[in-house]
Amino acid sequence: MGKKLNWNHINPWMENSAPGEEQDSPSMGHGNLPEAGAELEGVIEDVAFGGEGVLRHDNMVIFVPGVITGEHVRVRIAEVKKNFARAELVSILKAMPDRVDPRCPLFGECGGCQYQHMSYESQLLMKQKQVRDIFERIGGVDGNLVETVLPCPSPYNYRNRIMVRTQWNRDRREMAVGFLKYHSRLVVPVDECHIAEPELNEQLAEIRSNPSRRNGIKYVLRKFPEGWTLPRDSFFQNNFFLLPGMVDAVRQSLRDFAGRFLVDAYCGVGFFAIELAAEVEEFAGVEIDRMAIRAAEKNAADRQISNGHFVEGATETMLPRLMEKFPPVETTVVLDPPRRGIDPSAVEFLKRVGPGQILYVSCHPATQARDVATFCADGQYRVHSVKPMDMFPQTQHVECLADLRLAH
Ligand SMILES: C[S@@+](CC[C@H](N)C(=O)[O-])C[C@H]1O[C@@H](n2cnc3c(N)ncnc32)[C@H](O)[C@@H]1O
Repeated sequence: MGKKLNWNHINPWMENSAPGEEQDSPSMGHGNLPEAGAELEGVIEDVAFGGEGVLRHDNMVIFVPGVITGEHVRVRIAEVKKNFARAELVSILKAMPDRVDPRCPLFGECGGCQYQHMSYESQLLMKQKQVRDIFERIGGVDGNLVETVLPCPSPYNYRNRIMVRTQWNRDRREMAVGFLKYHSRLVVPVDECHIAEPELNEQLAEIRSNPSRRNGIKYVLRKFPEGWTLPRDSFFQNNFFLLPGMVDAVRQSLRDFAGRFLVDAYCGVGFFAIELAAEVEEFAGVEIDRMAIRAAEKNAADRQISNGHFVEGATETMLPRLMEKFPPVETTVVLDPPRRGIDPSAVEFLKRVGPGQILYVSCHPATQARDVATFCADGQYRVHSVKPMDMFPQTQHVECLADLRLAH
C-alpha cells in the first residue's frame, strides 16, 4: 500500500505559471516524453543537491521533492522542460526505513525545509554524498577526501536568525506573515518555525499578533550571541549549537599544518581570528562591513587579544597589504566568503603569493568547489581534506571546510 503523504496536496510548480502561459510540453516537440498531468511510477535513484529526488523515465530526468533514495513512488508530472521534468509526489509505494514523520505541519508547502521526512542520520549520509559528488564533479577532487558530516547537536530549533515577510491574502482578507512557499513567491503563513530557536518563535508570535499593514515588509528575527558584540545588520554564523564543532574543525586543521600566521578574510565580527588568535603569533582580519570591523576590534579587546588587527575593506583589495608582513609559506589564510565565492582577483593574488595553507569555509559547496578547482589547477595546491558540517539540519544547505595545502 502506498503511504499517504502531506506532500501530495501541493503542486508547487504549477503555481509559478500564469494562466495561459505557454507550457514547454511534449506536444511541443519532445517526442514521447510524458505530458504535464501524466502519472508514472519508478524508483528514486538519488537525491540531488537542492533536495529533489531523481527519477529516470525513458532517459529523461524527473525531479521529485519529498522522497528518499531507493523509494518506489508514484508521481504526477507538473512541468516538462527541454532536458528534464518536475513532478509532484502522488504516493509512496515502498518507503525507505529512514522515512520519518516531519515535525512541521507546513513541511512540503513551506520552502524553508527539504528533509524533515528523513531521519537525521540519513540526512547526514545523504549530504556527505552530495558534497562528495559536487567536489568530484566541479572541483575535480578525489571524493575520498570528503569526510563524514559533522552533526548538529540540535537538529531542530537551532536557527538564530530567520526572515519572515508580509503578504496580503486577498481570499482570506488577512495579512499573511511567513516564509515563501516552495518554488513560489507566495507567502505561507507560519505560526511556528520548527528549525528556529524558541526565542525567535516568540518574536514571530508578536509580529503575527500585530503585523504591518504594508505588503512585502521583511522582518529579520534574531537571537544575538552571548559575549559577542554584533551590530544589528552584521553577519554571524546562524547556528550556535554547531559553532564549537565548527571552530574545532578549523582549529585542528590549523594545528595540523602548524601555521604561525593567520589571515582571516571575510572576517565579520572577527569570529575565526579571535577564536584562533592563541594558535598563532600574529593575525590580521579583513571585512567589508564597517560596523562589523568596529565590532571585531571590540570583541578582540574584550578578550585582551592583542596579537593582531582588523582592517575594513574588500578582501580582493586589501589582501596584498595584509599578506605583505607574513612569510607566505608559514601563513594560513581563512576564507569565509558569501555564497557567490571568492573574487577571481583574490584567488589569482593568493596563487601568486602562495600561502602554505588555505582554509576555505563556505555554505555553498558548488562555488567553493569551483574556487578549489582554480586553486588546485596546475597542481599548485592540493586538497588535504573536505569536512562537511551540518549547520542547517532539515534543509538543503550544508557548510564545508576545505583544507588546501601548497603542493610544493
Ligand atoms: C559568510 S560571512 C563570514 C563572516 C565571518 N567569517 C564569521 O564567521 O562570522 C561573509 C562575510 O563577508 C563579508 N564580505 C562580503 N563581501 C566581502 C568582500 N568583498 N571583502 C570582504 N568582506 C566581504 C560580509 O559582510 C560577511 O561578513
